[in-house]
Amino acid sequence: PPLDEMLNLHDFEAVAKGVLTEKAWAYYSSAAEEEFSLRENRAAYQRVWFLPRILRDVTSIDPSTTILGQKSSLPIYISATALGKLGHPDGELNLTRAAAKYGVIQMIPTLASCSFDEIVDASQPNQSLFLQLYVSRDREVTKKYVQHAEKRGVKALFITVDAPQLGRREKDMRMKFVDDGAGAKVQEGQSGIKKDQGIARAISSFIDPSLAWKDIPWFRSITSMPIILKGVASPQDAIMALEAGVQGIVLSNHGGRQLDNSRSGLENLVDIVAALKTRGPWPNPKFSVFIDGGVRRASDALKALALGASAVGVGRGFLYAFSAYGQDGVEKAIEILRDEFEMNMRLLGCRTLGELSPDMVDASALRTH
Ligand code: FNR
Repeated sequence: PPLDEMLNLHDFEAVAKGVLTEKAWAYYSSAAEEEFSLRENRAAYQRVWFLPRILRDVTSIDPSTTILGQKSSLPIYISATALGKLGHPDGELNLTRAAAKYGVIQMIPTLASCSFDEIVDASQPNQSLFLQLYVSRDREVTKKYVQHAEKRGVKALFITVDAPQLGRREKDMRMKFVDDGAGAKVQEGQSGIKKDQGIARAISSFIDPSLAWKDIPWFRSITSMPIILKGVASPQDAIMALEAGVQGIVLSNHGGRQLDNSRSGLENLVDIVAALKTRGPWPNPKFSVFIDGGVRRASDALKALALGASAVGVGRGFLYAFSAYGQDGVEKAIEILRDEFEMNMRLLGCRTLGELSPDMVDASALRTH
């Protein structure tokens, strides 16, 4: 269908399913085991309801914000998703170019199909990029990668902490890994690639499962970028992150792809914000809480922001958009979200994101504890 028939982010998923190879669809869409967490990520948003305010002169609406000190036209960033060339020959560059045009921030994945430098070279001088890091067993490889990224102007480091082993994504595992040229330019130093267990396992064998809290000071010593831990789910860990001196956390279950049955970021948000409030100022300008998983609409993001998130990540939404339509698809997806923000904020009675507050949502159906 023509691009202008896309009315929401779900529409891109339907088109992508039709155009992707069976293997690419399996890798992109799959989640772990029963896919309970995957479905829950989406379902959780339906347990939060708006309590809109009226008569506030909502003529002009501004959904822009600052994410880790970087300007963003929306409170949404493009989260890291590996292997963009499985979906489209230009891979991650579709995201980079669209993000530049619309003032959105892209998180570059360690396991991108395009090389890190190709992505940075395709970016604009005033464009902000973040980096997602899988930590190698060979710390020299990791150190070089991080320091190179900082030198090339990357603005923040998101260390993925929920993947000491890749989750059991059975749809993906059923597809034998055949190298079709779309593979990641994976960091040197990896070894023992097994080609018979699906794409995810084949590309991830270099990841260090020994990563621990004691390693955080080392990351602090090799870079001055803000460090954010991606994949936090418990209030205890959120407090440990704060006390470890990192600059933020992403409440995420990795799009349901890691530990199945882990609660959604949205449900964890309320408990984690409450825990953080006991240990310091809130909102804390030195510690950001992000969430991802199941975000497909501006309304989702507004709910998360009202409950204390600084910004939200979108993975599959943009992945499916470029799989279906390349860069134009990503641009259209951002336009759709931008229009949704304008309308939702106007009807909600908030002109800027600063006017959002917890009393504009009823989150009583979330199972907080
Ligand atoms: C991911 N995600 C991910 N995260 C990460 O830290 N490193 C990675 O390499 C990847 N790769 C990846 C591939 C694919 C195909 C998907 C769908 C996801 C997780 C991603 O950053 C994010 O947490 C989720 O995608 C958010 O959920 P939604 O928006 O996809 O529902």
